[in-house]
Amino acid sequence: NVVAIDGPAGAGKSTVSRLVAEKLGLDVLDTGAMYRCVAWAALFELGDVSDPADVARVAAAARVEQVGTRWIANGVDVTETIRGVEVTAAVSVVAAQPAVRARLVELQRAWLDERGGGVVEGRDIGSVVVPDACLKVYLDAEPTARATRRAREKAGGAEISERDTTAELASLNERDRLDSTRTVSPLVQAPDAVVLDTTVLSIDEVVDAIVDLWRER
Ligand code: DC
Repeated sequence: NVVAIDGPAGAGKSTVSRLVAEKLGLDVLDTGAMYRCVAWAALFELGDVSDPADVARVAAAARVEQVGTRWIANGVDVTETIRGVEVTAAVSVVAAQPAVRARLVELQRAWLDERGGGVVEGRDIGSVVVPDACLKVYLDAEPTARATRRAREKAGGAEISERDTTAELASLNERDRLDSTRTVSPLVQAPDAVVLDTTVLSIDEVVDAIVDLWRER
């Protein structure tokens, strides 16, 4: 009973996953937040993420929990901090480490086992974490649309300029490059995933399409 939602940053995965989970009465897991929690812990304890062995050690010991809508890493509420520039800049490097991935994939599967299913969003959910998920969605959008969405999220409703979008586009492109070219579990489209594109479909249309696919499964 798993809906796997993968795709690049800014495609709308978080919003879509939350709405799909509400409609289907399932819990939702944002695995990107888990990688961000480990990146935060590494920055907090090490100051930087340059040493793979040190990062692996921090990841092995890190306690990462979701309490309601909050994220708690090693006992600290990091819900806002993990969305900041420092964690965002470090997370792709941390997520590229096999030891970090092995640990988090284990926690993700345990989360699903406890509930008997749920909506899980990330980069490798349909390809690695739950290859037998009954529904796999690859949520995509053109880079400019993704950059605009991220810039709007950051501005929290305030006006955004072309410069905000351009800056966001550069940072997204770099993260996508790192996420798609890493050796372990890169962002890939599972062959049996349904591709939905939020450049042409509204969030509501995407949510309805996923709910329909789930009912037809
Ligand atoms: O979705 P996000 O931007 O919060 O993800 C943060 C980072 O974690 C991103 O650089 C990709 C990585 N990630 C990953 O490698 N595997 C996942 N299942 C989820 C996220």
